[in-house]
Amino acid sequence: MEMEFEENIMEADGLDVWYGKKQALFGVDIPIKKNRITALIGPSGCGKSTLIRTFNRMNDLVDGCRTEGTVMFNGKDVFAKGADVLELRKKVGMVFQRPNPFPMTIRHNIEYGPKVHGVTDKAKLGEIVEESLRKAALWDEVKDRLDTSALGLSGGQQQRLCIARALSVDPEVILMDEPTASLDPLATAKIEELATELKKSYTVVAVTHNMQQAARISDYTGFMYLGRLEEFGKTEDVFKSPKSELTERYVSGRFG
Ligand SMILES: Nc1ncnc2c1ncn2[C@@H]1O[C@H](COP(=O)(O)OP(=O)(O)OP(=O)(O)O)[C@@H](O)[C@H]1O
Ligand SMILES: [Mg+2]
Repeated sequence: MEMEFEENIMEADGLDVWYGKKQALFGVDIPIKKNRITALIGPSGCGKSTLIRTFNRMNDLVDGCRTEGTVMFNGKDVFAKGADVLELRKKVGMVFQRPNPFPMTIRHNIEYGPKVHGVTDKAKLGEIVEESLRKAALWDEVKDRLDTSALGLSGGQQQRLCIARALSVDPEVILMDEPTASLDPLATAKIEELATELKKSYTVVAVTHNMQQAARISDYTGFMYLGRLEEFGKTEDVFKSPKSELTERYVSGRFG
């Protein structure tokens, strides 16, 4: 029998997270498969954002947040002493629920990260701008207005710009926290299509409240409940033959 093997690019092991005295994650073990889309689903407050924010140590920025357990990225513990957090955030980029372009031109939004990481050559920056916008399926719509404000773009365009901005520093993993929650169905469809395209070269982890979206675009799904990873598996299995009764009730919309 042929064995299926998919490489884990990231992996959480026994992950506990506290905000002050309140524990938000309890012993979460989850593999993130390379060049796949993993969807994280579950009711509000169950810890989805907390989990993905450990993947690039964004929680470090939250006062009173404490983490135990390990998160491995390419075989190295991201919380190890001396780990390079800036490099981690470059390799593990993030896109948020509300598009948050910087209040500057489209071009400067994309150049910002590469400049922080030491790219100064103008021609090189120009290449990065075009390539990032092409990968984010936005180039054709903005190529004639690169030097106008990013805030003049539609919500869906702004979100693709944020994806382009994440891509500009050559990441390996893109974390998306409800990336389509503020978008209309057409803009949402574009982001979904884009995520599917991106997994050829990147690994995507997407938090979503939209069950259909998780079922449509993801290869793996994690269902979280009260700070625990209740179920994890191939998306088809999680939706069609979940192991846990709770998962079954959640994915079929009979919850609470
Ligand atoms: N900065 C913070 N300070 C204190 N508590 C927090 C903070 N961020 C999250 N929490 C708490 O941690 C728990 C998990 O929150 P988290 O934001 O990870 O949930 P979520 O699954 O992303 O929810 P939602 O679907 O509403 O975005 C919640 O009880 C929340 O109130
Ligand atoms: Mg959240």
